[in-house]
Amino acid sequence: MKRILALVLVCMMALAGAAFAEESKGTLSMGTNAAFPPYEYYDDETGEIVGIDAEVAAAICEKLGYDLEIVDMEFSAIIPAITSGKVDFGMAGMTVTEERLQSVDFTISYATGIQSVIVPEDSPITSVDDLTAEGANYTVGVQLGTTGDLYCTGDIEEAGFGSVERFNTGTDAVLALTTGKVDCVVIDDAPAQNFVAANEGLKILDTSYTVEEYAIALAKDSALTEEINAALEELIADGTVQAIVDKYIVAE
Ligand code: ARG
Repeated sequence: MKRILALVLVCMMALAGAAFAEESKGTLSMGTNAAFPPYEYYDDETGEIVGIDAEVAAAICEKLGYDLEIVDMEFSAIIPAITSGKVDFGMAGMTVTEERLQSVDFTISYATGIQSVIVPEDSPITSVDDLTAEGANYTVGVQLGTTGDLYCTGDIEEAGFGSVERFNTGTDAVLALTTGKVDCVVIDDAPAQNFVAANEGLKILDTSYTVEEYAIALAKDSALTEEINAALEELIADGTVQAIVDKYIVAE
């Protein structure tokens, strides 16, 4: 009798466990660098990380039945955090590049990015080509480990047209620009618009560097990639992703 009771109890606990698991499959941790508005940044009032990536990630997790935890770190630490299993995925306005594909997998793209150039309003730099013109010798600020860093290191520094200063955040790079420590900053256009709006005396050049695709990065062959892709596809198809983007990026 006691044994049967024990068995019944074990079954009940297993059932309860299953029901619980259906509510939440656990927590997924997302690595990001929250100094990149409107994709990820700290809300002044709540102190929470908000932005397009935070909201798209929350929508994906909700659809799939996971809780979401956002972990803020340096941008250059995100891919190592993914490959070492410290976070489940990385989402940080991260561009899909051949080099990154060597170490991580990417989901389908959920947004397009453009590399823009921020200069002081009275800058002698008037187009992207000025940076690589005969005799040019500008100091370009970038965020360490970003595609902006990659392009400028190759096209400007290694080509002998100037030097590249690397900062841990886009915010720090823009600060260096406002204090005259660099001549321009090469960074993604949406954050560039935010930084220019928040700092007087800056503008964005009309010509941009390049167009790129943003996607979510996961460990190679992660079982999650397929799950996240399926959720993302639905959220793109039903307009959720666009609605989130529109909330943060007001079209001119
Ligand atoms: N799109 C660029 C890249 O992938 C910059 C991304 C920076 N993101 C950030 N959250 N700080 O390299």
